[in-house]
Amino acid sequence: MRILSVVGARPQFVKLAPIAHAMTSAGIEHVVVHTGQHYDKNMSDVFFTDLGISRPQVELAVGSASHGRQTGAMLSAMDEVLERYQPDWVVVYGDTNSTIAGALAATKLHIPTAHVEAGLRSFNRRMPEELNRVATDHLSDLCLAPTEVAMKHLSGEGLANRSVLVGDVMTDVLLSVREDVRDKPNPVAFAVGGEYRLATLHRADNTDDPATLQAIIESFGALDLPTVLLAHPRLRSRAADYGIELETGSIVVMEPLPYPQLVRALIGANGVITDSGGLQKEAFILRVPCTTVRTETEWTETLECGWNVLATPDACAIAKAVRRERPASTRATPYGDGGAAGRVVAAILRQ
Ligand code: UD1
Repeated sequence: MRILSVVGARPQFVKLAPIAHAMTSAGIEHVVVHTGQHYDKNMSDVFFTDLGISRPQVELAVGSASHGRQTGAMLSAMDEVLERYQPDWVVVYGDTNSTIAGALAATKLHIPTAHVEAGLRSFNRRMPEELNRVATDHLSDLCLAPTEVAMKHLSGEGLANRSVLVGDVMTDVLLSVREDVRDKPNPVAFAVGGEYRLATLHRADNTDDPATLQAIIESFGALDLPTVLLAHPRLRSRAADYGIELETGSIVVMEPLPYPQLVRALIGANGVITDSGGLQKEAFILRVPCTTVRTETEWTETLECGWNVLATPDACAIAKAVRRERPASTRATPYGDGGAAGRVVAAILRQ
């Protein structure tokens, strides 16, 4: 059996790690295609090194471009790759342009396709990620859902008969890395010399409008603890375009962290402020209070358990949502037990 995975952006390298390991254990020949959507060393290479994933066999090196151009470049390169490797299955991950391109290329060639992290919905069609994930679910032959809520969405869209609840593969990685880093030095505490909150920002809705970005940065800068902003390249580039100074007030700007260091920094943080999907969930699992700078989230369990609060991207809303007190403790494990990747491979082998 030969399975081909298509990845391209930072969170996909994390999702790929446990699945690549599970495929190796199952004796599957696994071909990894990296589209090149993320190409900076600290957005890409360090994840392969730190999470023990072999280098991709194929690198499309498409780089950055507008949505249509970036997705189109991947799509046009994928035909040749699929013809060369003739995989039995293609696996795509999450909601990025690399995901939709991989799914569309494979299904058009009648290659069975599985979507890891299927069924998530924000119901916000302004988000490119929402359009990517809805289309990918409907293209795919096998929808591998992380949560019961995702299963409900798939069923509501008539996809129940091709959907399987496997759990969240990012949780697999987090639970194992957490044990490895617990006793390691915390790079962020070292840099700021005390308490801090961690922040990230990269969604187009937050970064691509100057007034919105300015309001968010001002609100981060006015917080009562250092706000350690792990600056995504999109954020840096838009802030430079608009002349917005990121290092404002309490903000301490740092480069994005490699995954193990991110987990270590999260364990030691007072709180998290983010628009990342993955980080909301990681904060919940590590029981760090999270504020999400968005009008909705796909990970609704984090809200219901009280560990995540949404804030519209304006200074008042953010200041009000960010809090020092810890929510009531909970034993809820909506994202699974750390064994999702094994269930992904088993579900594909059952088909
Ligand atoms: C993408 C995904 C998003 C995911 C995120 C994780 C889409 C539509 N969005 O958003 O779902 O949560 O990745 O980070 O697929 N850039 C660099 N170096 C890099 C990568 C990007 O400088 O290695 C810059 C470029 O200026 C680029 C911008 O970042 O224009 C945005 O990159 P892009 O791939 O379009 O989307 P992300 O915002 O990273």
